[in-house]
Amino acid sequence: MSSHRIIRKMRVIWLLQAVSEFYPGTVEYRRSANLLSPIDIVLGQSRDESYSAIRWRPGQESNGFFLVVGGAGSGKTEALKRIGRGLLEGGFPVLVLDFHGDVDVSWLSPILMSSGLDSTIGVNPMELDSYRAHEVGLYDQRMALVELIVKAVPMLSQLQRVILTDAIEAAYRWVGIYDDDPLSWRRPPPTFPMVMDILERWHEDDELRSRRSTINGCLSAIKAVFGHPVFGREATLSIDEILSVGARVNLGMVPDSIRYIVADTLLRKVFRALMLKGPIPTCPADDTERFRLFIMVDEAKILSKASARLNASGHILNILATEGRKFGVGLILASQSIDHFGGDLKANVSTRLIMKPMDFEQAKKLGLDIKVSASDLMALRGKGDGFFKSQGSGEATYMQVRRP
Ligand SMILES: Nc1ncnc2c1ncn2[C@@H]1O[C@H](COP(=O)(O)OP(=O)(O)OP(=O)(O)O)[C@@H](O)[C@H]1O
Ligand SMILES: [Mg+2]
Repeated sequence: MSSHRIIRKMRVIWLLQAVSEFYPGTVEYRRSANLLSPIDIVLGQSRDESYSAIRWRPGQESNGFFLVVGGAGSGKTEALKRIGRGLLEGGFPVLVLDFHGDVDVSWLSPILMSSGLDSTIGVNPMELDSYRAHEVGLYDQRMALVELIVKAVPMLSQLQRVILTDAIEAAYRWVGIYDDDPLSWRRPPPTFPMVMDILERWHEDDELRSRRSTINGCLSAIKAVFGHPVFGREATLSIDEILSVGARVNLGMVPDSIRYIVADTLLRKVFRALMLKGPIPTCPADDTERFRLFIMVDEAKILSKASARLNASGHILNILATEGRKFGVGLILASQSIDHFGGDLKANVSTRLIMKPMDFEQAKKLGLDIKVSASDLMALRGKGDGFFKSQGSGEATYMQVRRP
């Protein structure tokens, strides 16, 4: 970007903030994104004699996907915060899945999800995609839900799974949602406390005496995970708000298995809402047409680890990496190991920042990926230095990330 364009852009940001009191992360500021387009984020500077600025310009890449990989303490979270801030200042919404509660992106107010009283918002994995009634039947959605539960509670026996499937079916009927009536799918969905209620009644039912211990086992296994208050709250995260200004969902206070379910449910919901808007234009005029939402996940292994098959096409990260671009999704993922990502995802990501690897094995894999020797990667100092490589920039460049 030429210097006069940078000055023009800074003037626009200054005017928006000083004159109209519009700040990044607000709906008003978001409306001005076209004035600030294209997205051009200065990540830091190269560590050669030129000290040139290293920038991420997702609109000039084949997609807005960015992978940050490095060992503990290498500077991944700080890099994400820098990127998130740049996107918000560019007028774009960012959804941050903050698994450890430390991805404190400027301008984004955190939404705490925990069992405590400070947390009032929940998620309901039982919510349906009513608009996809003809494409994906209620039966299939119920099966997907059972699959999610089985992943979260792997100790369920085959018989317990059958009982659980029946209880879920009964819960939908309870609220007046029927398989053969897609219009009924628009009714408020059942919740997990309802499923547990049904199981409890079956447990007391004399006619089901012979299955009592199975039902009991099922109930306690489900309670252990889905008894968590985040699954019982009426107020759920507003997808409209996420799409208009973004959100930072702080999952730092909930156990791993629950983090995974919340994150998976939320990402699927957001992606469904984006699909509903239809694809972006084939030849977008600018970044405001190209990008609708940037999704940022630090510690992405929490999403990957729980999925037995990293390469499964149904894995939400793979769905986003293969289909997200068409619907305006940008994706920024960070993890300590490249092995936390599936093949499709790695093949699709246009931009990488490789920070100090956790060991030599990782350095070898990462080095092959960006064509830098493993020893050069091992020689990184940590604390924010790394190699940046994008399709647009060509060769990997040794750089220092600027703090957010
Ligand atoms: N760009 C930077 N410039 C200067 N110091 C940095 C930079 N990035 C990180 N650091 C230093 O390194 C520390 C660790 O950074 P950060 O939390 O981003 O690492 P991480 O890779 O996310 O680690 P973990 O895998 O443990 O989450 C920071 O608290 C800070 O002191
Ligand atoms: Mg971190």
